[in-house]
Amino acid sequence: MALNLIMMGPPGAGKGTQAELLAKRQGIPKVSTGDILREAVKMGTPLGLQAKAIMDRGELVGDDVMVGIVRERLDRADARFGFVLDGFPRTVAQAAALDAIMTGRDPLIVIDIAVPEAELVRRLASRRVCGSCGENAEGEAAALPTCQRCGGPLKQRADDDEAVVLERLKVYHRKTEPLIDYYRARPTFRSVDGAQPLEAVAEALTAAVEGIASGNRTEGALR
Ligand code: AP5
Repeated sequence: MALNLIMMGPPGAGKGTQAELLAKRQGIPKVSTGDILREAVKMGTPLGLQAKAIMDRGELVGDDVMVGIVRERLDRADARFGFVLDGFPRTVAQAAALDAIMTGRDPLIVIDIAVPEAELVRRLASRRVCGSCGENAEGEAAALPTCQRCGGPLKQRADDDEAVVLERLKVYHRKTEPLIDYYRARPTFRSVDGAQPLEAVAEALTAAVEGIASGNRTEGALR
């Protein structure tokens, strides 16, 4: 069975961090719509030029654009055996489009990472990202001037400015949080406590995914 995972949660919940760990462990691609957009901005492509101002305001890029990007990415050969989606879907329209894309494929496993708002704000205020390789600096490494992996300069993400973070949280509550109700009734939905240390979240997440996957194998398709 292919592990077709969605990592959901508010800004700063740890979606990207956990998606990276899980994708590596499972040998499947991590598909982060935020990373795809930031790369497009960096390269100055037409998509990047269109997305930059929207992202800087903390708003969402249009559904049609995002669905097109994800459809093309999930059609590639490396995603046929599974994927971890980070940052998509973000609206009910995106979720409905993803269900259509998934027709004939193994069911989606949806993990919501729940974290209290004060902790999200704290994490995003202290997050530092490498300007060269894009890696998050974890823990004490975030206080250093350079990336421990490649030596590039560490900086704050443009949309981690306090006012933009508050807007991103508002947009999350208005447009993305309703997806919890969209998915909750599915047997392949789980919520994980994301306020624990990173390793404990990873363990809880792996246990949830393995529980769903083994249930699928013994009970047949859960779609
Ligand atoms: P995106 O990049 O997806 O941003 P986001 O959803 O706001 O999420 P973040 O990347 O801020 O947080 P995260 O949950 O991944 O947490 P992370 O692991 O980094 O999107 C950016 C923008 O692109 C959007 O605002 C929108 O404009 C646009 N966009 C993207 N997708 C779109 C879509 N589908 N439709 C429309 N527009 C779209 O962790 C955060 C910090 O916390 C890090 O410093 C990390 O080290 C730390 N941390 C992680 N886990 C823990 C832990 N357990 N304990 C302590 N610290 C932790």
